[in-house]
Amino acid sequence: MAKRKRKGGTAVLAPPSDPPVMAGLVGPPRTVPAGIARPPYALSGEPGPSVSDVVRTPDEIDAMRRAGAAAAEVLLIAGSLVAPGVTTDSIDARVHEEALARNAYPSPLNYRGFPKSVCTSINEVICHGIPDSRQLRDGDIINIDVTLFLDGVHGDTSCTFLVGDVDDVSTMLVRETRTSLYDAIDTVRPGAPFNAIGKAIETHAKKFGLGVVRDFIGHGVGTEFHSNLQIPHYYHPRLTRKMEQGMSFTIEPMLTLGAIECNIWDDDWTAVTVDGRRTAQFEHTMVVIDDGVELTTLTGSGECAADIYGS
Ligand code: MF3
Ligand code: CO
Ligand code: CO
Repeated sequence: MAKRKRKGGTAVLAPPSDPPVMAGLVGPPRTVPAGIARPPYALSGEPGPSVSDVVRTPDEIDAMRRAGAAAAEVLLIAGSLVAPGVTTDSIDARVHEEALARNAYPSPLNYRGFPKSVCTSINEVICHGIPDSRQLRDGDIINIDVTLFLDGVHGDTSCTFLVGDVDDVSTMLVRETRTSLYDAIDTVRPGAPFNAIGKAIETHAKKFGLGVVRDFIGHGVGTEFHSNLQIPHYYHPRLTRKMEQGMSFTIEPMLTLGAIECNIWDDDWTAVTVDGRRTAQFEHTMVVIDDGVELTTLTGSGECAADIYGS
């Protein structure tokens, strides 16, 4: 039977990433000194049901600026480490250390049992890669997803970095995934429907023949790591709910060179494309403000890894 074409007839743009990403050895979880405030799930691993309001208070928004700026700084540092031969575990070590240096808790650590302090997702890994002993290779692409818990709230941001000399199709994938995030951010303002976000991402992806992953979505974020708002990156006609001033959430599109479906490894976390083709992701945390949107995951001087490494 002929394979059904994806709506829009997206072509496969590249062969599977070769060689496939293989798991390495995962070290023990890193420890956090008692003086650093932990999110409620840190001990049990279970965040429980989301109970927070979708709208943040002014004090919470201020805290989100601090948590977001710290996350943006740490992501920039993590990106500066990316080079052939570097292990994802050594990136985890540095992210952990830089989080503690800012009095922050690295949010992934023990979130639903996640064993490390940051997510590192290479080539065909869509998201939630676990840092391990694997060394980065010339030509890889790697998403580093940093979330920090500081002053009672989370800042969640990620960027896909190029390792050494990367082929043109992968470079296009990374560049256009970044652009799709910024196109989506441009739709955010009070009164805009939430489905404008997915529409913008899908429209951009289609122009370049890229797939849009549906199994992982953006989310409300603030006092909770993942709270009630759901932000699909594809167009969802019935998602007509309107954005309101003070709502805080992420947009984090994952675009692919082929299939959009995923398999999950036996580690219960690592999500890979079913066809082994590459995928990229960028993420910002934002708050809806009176005249539009404010990104909280920028440094004090307004910088972010996506602007410095992604364009
Ligand atoms: N930072 C990821 C996100 O963007 C979530 C990671 S959950 C973890 O939503 F447990 F894998 F860390
Ligand atoms: Co997120
Ligand atoms: Co994230």
